[in-house]
Amino acid sequence: MSVANGFHRAPDGLHCEGVRLAEIARQAGTPAYVYSLDVIDRQLARMAKAFEGINIRPCYAAKANNNADILRLIAGRDDLPWGIDAVSKGELMAGLAAGFKPAAMIFSGVGKQAHELEFAISHDIVLNVESLFELEDIVAIAKNLGRRARIGFRFNPDVDAGTHPKITTGTKRNKFGLPMLALDELLNRIKQESRAVGLCGVSTHIGSQICDLDAWGDSARQLVALAGKLIENHNQDLEFIDFGGGFPVRYDGDRDPPAIEAFAGIIRIALEGATVDAIKKLLVVIEPGRWVVGESGGLLTRVIGVKDRFIVVDASMTELIRPALYDARHEILFDLDADHAKVATRSAIEYDIVGPVCESSDVLARDIVPGFEPKKNQLAVILQAGAYGFSMASTYNLRPLPPEIVVRGSTFNSCPKP
Ligand code: LLP
Repeated sequence: MSVANGFHRAPDGLHCEGVRLAEIARQAGTPAYVYSLDVIDRQLARMAKAFEGINIRPCYAAKANNNADILRLIAGRDDLPWGIDAVSKGELMAGLAAGFKPAAMIFSGVGKQAHELEFAISHDIVLNVESLFELEDIVAIAKNLGRRARIGFRFNPDVDAGTHPKITTGTKRNKFGLPMLALDELLNRIKQESRAVGLCGVSTHIGSQICDLDAWGDSARQLVALAGKLIENHNQDLEFIDFGGGFPVRYDGDRDPPAIEAFAGIIRIALEGATVDAIKKLLVVIEPGRWVVGESGGLLTRVIGVKDRFIVVDASMTELIRPALYDARHEILFDLDADHAKVATRSAIEYDIVGPVCESSDVLARDIVPGFEPKKNQLAVILQAGAYGFSMASTYNLRPLPPEIVVRGSTFNSCPKP
């Protein structure tokens, strides 16, 4: 029985922390997302310990999970000065509403629209610039507003993070970031437009679910070298150095991924090795998303019926698209009643767990051997679904979005279906 993610099987059924999932299913229906706030608290406390001694501001990547209770929980921590990494005006607004200060927010993304830039510049939010055309848009909008935009350069270090190709962002073939070659042109422009725009940091982000520490270290070292060059050769008054996110969690069948402490160690060594002293005084930013919330969430679902080797459940790719999009493997915990327990070791049949959506890719798990005979109405929870679960949900097939239930100890909030 593992409770590392807050979910476990007890004699009276599946639980999230001290709450029976059958009770959540009764009140909220299924499918439903369930989040353990204790698990997030534990991650946040571990983060503070891992980065002790580093002048750090973690900016939570809100795209992983933008649930308002979770955002408030992160904003309210006092062991680290948490901020937000946002990629749309919607995420910026959700961050502000949750209590994050504009000065602790970063706006990333390759296609920021004029109305989004206007919003960010008016709130003095740092923009991580990803192209020359974006720099020109920022200059024009800042002039128009009579303000000076605060920017960072997001560089693409051309490092292959060795993760799934669809969540790799730091190679030449990815649309993200600025090539190192663009540096001179960028610097010329910000010198010419110094009243409208000021460079205050550098950043990078090479992908998600990164298990290759050498690749992450390579990108971190390149970033430190770049910051040194900007400070020493180009007289730039930098305030922050942003190493991005990508810290992994363990999915079904994975070996243990590198620990957050290992990433903290890479940053420590990269900063210690810096030849420019001013770098050691910069604010260190990281952008963790999945690592904060991934383990905290489960997608609660109910078996609609069983045919051949298919367990048809009421959750689908519209609630959790990760298996269909990235062949992601999420652990599934079934509820076992007394009958099940008796035959628990008998059935060795392999099943696919599929949803009701009219797509062959609507498979939530392949070739699993539950070890018992699944049956109609049985509850199950799909684990490691706290990150990029609800936030990527869709209404395809005109399915409603699922409710999100937040658990704290033995209480939970049951919000009505959206
Ligand atoms: N910073 C930037 C600029 C990002 O683009 C991302 C994620 C992060 C930080 C946070 O990355 P994390 O620490 O969560 O790995 N939907 C995919 C993941 C896409 C990630 C997009 N960018 C999935 O479900 O695996």
